[in-house]
Amino acid sequence: MKHSSKERPIGGDRVSELMKRELSAFETAHPRSKEIRDRADQSLLSGVPMNWMTRWPGAFPVVFDRASGNSIADVDGNEMIDFCLGDTGAMTGHSPPATVAAASARMAKGITTMLPSEDALPLGREMVRRFGLSHWQFSLSASDANRFSIRLCREVTGRDKVLVFNHCYHGSVDETVAMLKDGEPSFRVGNIGPPVPIAETTRVVEFNDFEGLERALAHGDVACVIAEPALTNIGIVLPDPGFLDHLRRLTRESGTVLIIDETHTFCCGPGGYTAAYGLEPDMITIGKPIAGGIPTGAYGMTDDMAARVLEHTVWEAADVGGVGGTLAGNALSMAAARATLEHVLTEDAFEHMIAMAERFEDGVQSVIDQHGLAWTVTRLGCRVEYMLGAERPRSGAQAAAAFDPRLDALLHLWMLNRGILMTPFHMMALMCPATSEADVDEHTRVLGEAAVALNA
Ligand SMILES: Cc1ncc(COP(=O)(O)O)c(C=O)c1O
Repeated sequence: MKHSSKERPIGGDRVSELMKRELSAFETAHPRSKEIRDRADQSLLSGVPMNWMTRWPGAFPVVFDRASGNSIADVDGNEMIDFCLGDTGAMTGHSPPATVAAASARMAKGITTMLPSEDALPLGREMVRRFGLSHWQFSLSASDANRFSIRLCREVTGRDKVLVFNHCYHGSVDETVAMLKDGEPSFRVGNIGPPVPIAETTRVVEFNDFEGLERALAHGDVACVIAEPALTNIGIVLPDPGFLDHLRRLTRESGTVLIIDETHTFCCGPGGYTAAYGLEPDMITIGKPIAGGIPTGAYGMTDDMAARVLEHTVWEAADVGGVGGTLAGNALSMAAARATLEHVLTEDAFEHMIAMAERFEDGVQSVIDQHGLAWTVTRLGCRVEYMLGAERPRSGAQAAAAFDPRLDALLHLWMLNRGILMTPFHMMALMCPATSEADVDEHTRVLGEAAVALNA
């Protein structure tokens, strides 16, 4: 593609030069994090409690000391404005007081017992009110909610396969760690120990591919489509007009269950994308922020789906059938989720968060315009992403092709060194109830400085 002089690509040499400078500044500012990381190698695989924590840019991960609202302080005393928010796990802001109070009260009175607690009832009612589906179950994560939902779909349809969109992410769920390669389902790069060849379990279609979707469902062997209504894990890819209606119509016609994964698109409002745009899924899955960061996932279903699930349940084996978990539905999760939905992620909170995201989007757009960058910015509710390509992508493949890992790493480190934490792996920002105009404007200012340095 030819770029106008206003939209010239950023040179690799300049990126390398700036990266060297930023790495050095990072090391100087984080001696205690480095010391901890050096000792952590002795007991933790790769020196971190979870392998992907090594993927932050910088020679070692920043170790955090405390987080509150949208602010994080690390062990070296550096303060950061947090737009990562635990990759949505802390979309409530860190340690929201109402959640902490309810969880603390609950913890003093028993955390997990295998018996239901009273909080589950108002929580269930609130999930019904927000998302419009009539029956809910709880898990410990969104990954589990997805895993269990897929199993239920297989069971009630008697079909084998799951359909996902290219470059989706639905957590650590075997069937979904897939992508398209030469038009065929393939293991996603980095898929660890897959149990069976992916084509046995999964069909993969490009997002916004109307005909491809029709062809894939015509086989009549797909138990469920599991989809984010807009892709959020390869940058943000919005649905083309009519694509989600097409998806609903084809799934209905082919007897395929439609699962909408709202784990990230909850950013669109109190009832997620589903309520904001009037979707009619058979099932919804969610997790991450619904209990303010205390591990909780949920999956909901329509009356019809609930009846089919009950019909297929072998009650004597309900504890060993592959759906569930000893700690799932525990009293702590229920209390935290109830308080979070009743007092933290409220209608008013979303109004503020979305207004902050609009300001963030405007700020990024002004930097793009002012400096002639070949980038785009996309907003989805209170989530904003800037993508390092001149065209807004319409599919996962297009978004992946535009990705520039070196520039992405540099921008993350540039931000981090100036007190701004962006979601790792792509340039995504999320707003929480505590995000202020001043925080958003600070990001715009720092991005403007990055643009000047890159264009120099
Ligand atoms: C859309 C979506 N669904 C599910 C998950 C899995 O969430 P968890 O890792 O909390 O199980 C993720 C994680 O990023 C996600 O983005």
